[in-house]
Amino acid sequence: MGEFTLRPLISRDRIAAKVTEIALRIGEDFAGEPVILIGVLKGAAIFLADLVRHIALDASFDFVAVSGYGGQRQHSGEVKLVKDVDDSLADKNVVLVEDILDTGLTLTYLKNLLLTRGPKALKIAVLLDKPDRRIQPVVADYVGFEIPDEFVVGYGLDFDNYYRNLPDIVTLRSDVIEARS
Ligand code: IMP
Repeated sequence: MGEFTLRPLISRDRIAAKVTEIALRIGEDFAGEPVILIGVLKGAAIFLADLVRHIALDASFDFVAVSGYGGQRQHSGEVKLVKDVDDSLADKNVVLVEDILDTGLTLTYLKNLLLTRGPKALKIAVLLDKPDRRIQPVVADYVGFEIPDEFVVGYGLDFDNYYRNLPDIVTLRSDVIEARS
């Protein structure tokens, strides 16, 4: 796991500018109304923390956790809720916040689940989108960056819980992934 395996993809400055831009759009879309951000643990924690501090509205947040990916390259196809939100989402403006939209299985599951809670509005914000990998046709309302089909880590994204604390988003060489899976 030497540093030679990591290649810069998106710098912290570009991330910060994009997060501010998404926060402004959320502020405009829900002008004057409260919003609740729902982050998907653990990957979205850092994105959510930065995003919520730039939203100029009455903004609160909560988290959900799902299982089904397990740090592996291939999705198991099955998503289960491991941690639910604490409070009712009925009649609330909800923004589901995820680190990356990959196959779309996680967000399809979560979107359908949250819609059963009767929100007033439900939007999806993702920092990264890998459109080439999509299995379920879910579309995010706010997308930070579209990226190619490469495994990325940093800014909350992990490989086996490594690298979440990197301030920049970097690609991890596939030979390392194969060696550790
Ligand atoms: P999906 O259900 O395939 O869209 O998976 C979304 C989840 O897969 C994300 O929340 C990440 O945890 C994980 N994931 C997908 N691609 C990457 C990646 O390139 N790096 C790190 N995690 C990833």
